[in-house]
Amino acid sequence: MVIHNLRIHQGDKIAFIGESGCGKSTLLDMLAFIAQPSYSEIFNFYLQHQSSINIAVEWQRKHLDPLSQLRKRYIGYVMQTGGLLPYLTVKENILLSREILDLPLEDEIVFQLINDLKLERHLKKSPAVLSIGERQRVAIARALSHKPKIVIADEPTASLDPYSAKVVMELFINLAEQFNITLIIASHDWQPLKSFGLHRYYLHTSYSENLTETSII
Ligand SMILES: Nc1ncnc2c1ncn2[C@@H]1O[C@H](COP(=O)(O)OP(=O)(O)OP(=O)(O)O)[C@@H](O)[C@H]1O
Ligand SMILES: [Mg+2]
Repeated sequence: MVIHNLRIHQGDKIAFIGESGCGKSTLLDMLAFIAQPSYSEIFNFYLQHQSSINIAVEWQRKHLDPLSQLRKRYIGYVMQTGGLLPYLTVKENILLSREILDLPLEDEIVFQLINDLKLERHLKKSPAVLSIGERQRVAIARALSHKPKIVIADEPTASLDPYSAKVVMELFINLAEQFNITLIIASHDWQPLKSFGLHRYYLHTSYSENLTETSII
């Protein structure tokens, strides 16, 4: 995958659109400092009132701890597979990022997320007994509960029926706007997203004999 000149600013709402296998999840993992780019000329993360952090150098020097600290503090991630911890209840999953960051567990945003995403009656359950769509709603609540600066979401409503997908996406985007969260969504389908004012990038893939190359246009 080749990325030229991608700049994402605080409060942006963007969607990466592309067919299955084109590299959406891989790109999101790189943006979340989970996957190491094989080569990067410039990869900077800018914090307000501070100089930039050179992510490319952090990876080269294998500084995994600072990268993981940045991720915990600034990024919420809704993984394609949900990524909920099976040995924690729904409520514990939602509170996990707040606990890791030593934030008070009872906070207005937690109540709002539980209420808006209609999770009240599931709080004491294990994720294993929830439907896939319910798990996606818990994953969205978990990604937002510590009010991160950035939320990255990989096909966050793919398992929902079209009506529920629209309702949950609307809620998700409203919550992100309310807290001025930068929103980065990947999806194979632009249609259900197009009414939400996201900036769209296409992942264009070209295939040759033994090389697949994806670029962002
Ligand atoms: N670390 C890796 N090393 C080599 N190939 C990889 C690695 N990670 C992912 N790939 C490959 O890159 C391609 C893109 O995978 P990715 O999961 O990013 O696609 P995707 O666009 O998210 O697809 P989907 O819409 O099906 O979720 C796949 O062929 C995958 O096998
Ligand atoms: Mg994917």
